[in-house]
Amino acid sequence: MTAAAPLLDVAGLNGWYGKSHILQGIDLAIRDGELVALLGRNGVGKTTTMRGLTGLLPRAEGRVRFDGTDLLGLPPHVIARRGLALVPEHRGIFGTLTVEENLSLAARRESRWRIADIFTMFPALAERRRTPGGKLSGGEQQMLSIGRALVTGPRLLLLDEPTEGLAPVIVDRLVELIRDLKATGLSILLVEQSLDVCLAVADRLAIIDSGRIVWEGDGPALKAADDIRGRHLTLEHA
Ligand SMILES: Nc1ncnc2c1ncn2[C@@H]1O[C@H](COP(=O)(O)OP(=O)(O)O)[C@@H](O)[C@H]1O
Ligand SMILES: [Mg+2]
Repeated sequence: MTAAAPLLDVAGLNGWYGKSHILQGIDLAIRDGELVALLGRNGVGKTTTMRGLTGLLPRAEGRVRFDGTDLLGLPPHVIARRGLALVPEHRGIFGTLTVEENLSLAARRESRWRIADIFTMFPALAERRRTPGGKLSGGEQQMLSIGRALVTGPRLLLLDEPTEGLAPVIVDRLVELIRDLKATGLSILLVEQSLDVCLAVADRLAIIDSGRIVWEGDGPALKAADDIRGRHLTLEHA
């Protein structure tokens, strides 16, 4: 018997913005149901990696295999239909549309999350269902952004710095939510600056520097690796 192929299998992913060669050969695998945290300093290519996986880079080469099929070169909406959903760094919700409209636009029948489920998950959003997205607090916008990704029916959820700029009590709530989502069997790639958040939820961690994965391991291994943290992460998070 051979081990099952990973759900996401990325090999030698290179990515460019114009002439800037940002991704320098990313190798990364995520198994079904696994939560992998991607860590790294500002500007090393975390968001660019997420964009490369979801068809949003102007130029990308290498291999992005998802559930046995190649995604590289497919347009973003096709990739989304295959089950990759990106919750982007700055949330990307429609500010003039209401909470409910933001969710309705994204919803797909194939998803196991209905809009009603999102309102159960986030009662604050239910209360504000007719409020324009732009009028929500930062935490509510993050919840809406996650809800919008879930109603598309993802098999792999890509979360790009979901806790950025949020109050500690909201961060705790998001950590709980990420754990609950993982418990449903959803696979997750989490980009996160807070090492504490990563250690709280991740099965495995990968560190990226200058467009390459430079270290992979679990939480205890990273805690023990002072040199790695010093070299590739910002010390305040260590
Ligand atoms: N749209 C863009 N055009 C040109 N360069 C970009 C663009 N977006 C990001 N970059 C550059 O790519 C590098 C990686 O950025 P990014 O992936 O956003 O970093 P991270 O998410 O790790 O902070 C940075 O040097 C950044 O300046
Ligand atoms: Mg980023």
